[in-house]
Amino acid sequence: MGGNGVLVCAPLECETLEGMLSSMDKAKAHGADLVELRVDAMSFARVSEVEELIRRRTLPAIVSFRLNSTRASRRQNDKTTCLQVLRLALELDVEFVEMEHEVVSHFDIDELMDKRSSSKLIVSRYLNGEKPCKEKLGNLIALMQSSGGDVIKLLVDVDYITDLAPIFQLLTTCQVPLIATTAGDRGLISQLLGPKFGGFLAYGSLEGVIPGLPTLTSLRQVYKIEHMNADTKVFGLISNPVGHSKGPLLHNPTFRYVGFNGIYVPMLVDDIKEFFRVYTSQDFAGFSVGIPHKEAAVACCDEVHPLAKSIGAVNTIVRRPTDGKLIGYNTDCEASITAIEDALRERHAANGQARAIDTSPIAGKAFVLVGAGGAGRALAFGAKSRGARVFVFNRNFETDFTVGSSCKCEKREQKP
Ligand SMILES: NC(=O)c1ccc[n+]([C@@H]2O[C@H](COP(=O)([O-])OP(=O)(O)OC[C@H]3O[C@@H](n4cnc5c(N)ncnc54)[C@H](OP(=O)(O)O)[C@@H]3O)[C@@H](O)[C@H]2O)c1
Repeated sequence: MGGNGVLVCAPLECETLEGMLSSMDKAKAHGADLVELRVDAMSFARVSEVEELIRRRTLPAIVSFRLNSTRASRRQNDKTTCLQVLRLALELDVEFVEMEHEVVSHFDIDELMDKRSSSKLIVSRYLNGEKPCKEKLGNLIALMQSSGGDVIKLLVDVDYITDLAPIFQLLTTCQVPLIATTAGDRGLISQLLGPKFGGFLAYGSLEGVIPGLPTLTSLRQVYKIEHMNADTKVFGLISNPVGHSKGPLLHNPTFRYVGFNGIYVPMLVDDIKEFFRVYTSQDFAGFSVGIPHKEAAVACCDEVHPLAKSIGAVNTIVRRPTDGKLIGYNTDCEASITAIEDALRERHAANGQARAIDTSPIAGKAFVLVGAGGAGRALAFGAKSRGARVFVFNRNFETDFTVGSSCKCEKREQKP
């Protein structure tokens, strides 16, 4: 557990006792504080095998048995087995026992709770495509708490990253320990940012085992979520796709190196306008903008730097702390053109070719671009401003590629 009290939990769904035990050891080595033992995923002939698993555990555990899981619903007498497993977990004083809200009423909860000594009860609910408002979620949590839950867990389907906003608000205001877990790639930041908003625990997978969950290694080594707190500023890459980005590997260690309380996360965004309509808080302090949003980002900003305006694309947005306004910049242009110039100068020096220092090595050269999107605009503008002749190849002839007043283009269609 980190300084912020947040636990990192690895869910384990192995079929065998030995599989569960070896995954638990791996989870421990990768920095998990506890494991969720999904017993309904196991094939076991006798409950004594579950007893052995619990007794041999090497980390604190949540014991869960989902009656609605595919495997459990195939099994005969699953309700009886579920009750046996949960009762056993309470008798063995497992740290947490998880029960689905829908099935709490199937049991004599008082009789079950009499068995416990220090175990905490997690009451969980899968919202199954529902998108309840904050108020409805609040009522649901109260109901789940009244059924005996010490900790409440909500599993939410996420279609868009904006679906997470009510969850973050709920985590901030909820008086009961709350776990919010999400299904799907667009929910990834719920685990990365949960600790900032007061989530009780964050789930992390063993390498690549559960899509949409961060790995334990990334939670511990890249994001260091144990250092996150309510004041942590959130930065991210708005892009689609976004999984390829090396941004988190670069920015998070840099924040730590300079002693800045920030986190940089991948944000899988479908609609950038909607994203900025929903995420208006100062907590979301700055953004990189990637494929395919650089051009649409211009209209989302309150102010746009003249260079970005001329290019017609924004790749960096800062939320100004004084008034919350979004200010757009373009760093692609100078970064890419100077990188090309540096490489050419190095090559000229290695070849013994003398060049005037004050003239760009791309001046007068043919500069060929493949692609006419936001990044292409920045490169075309930069190359043109250095005196290159710019040629753009694009699959879609209709794309409007006029870049500012200095970079008018003439279209020539390639006949098949
Ligand atoms: N390393 C860096 O710092 C950096 C910085 C910026 C961008 N990038 C990379 O540069 C690339 C372009 O980014 P962007 O923001 O300009 O994206 P964008 O605005 O979406 O533009 C993408 C361009 O690629 C073309 N395109 C897409 N799929 C294609 C396909 N299957 N076949 C042929 N052409 C295709 C599009 O053509 P249409 O006009 O026909 O749609 C468009 O011209 C991305 O890979 C991005 O990750 C890297």
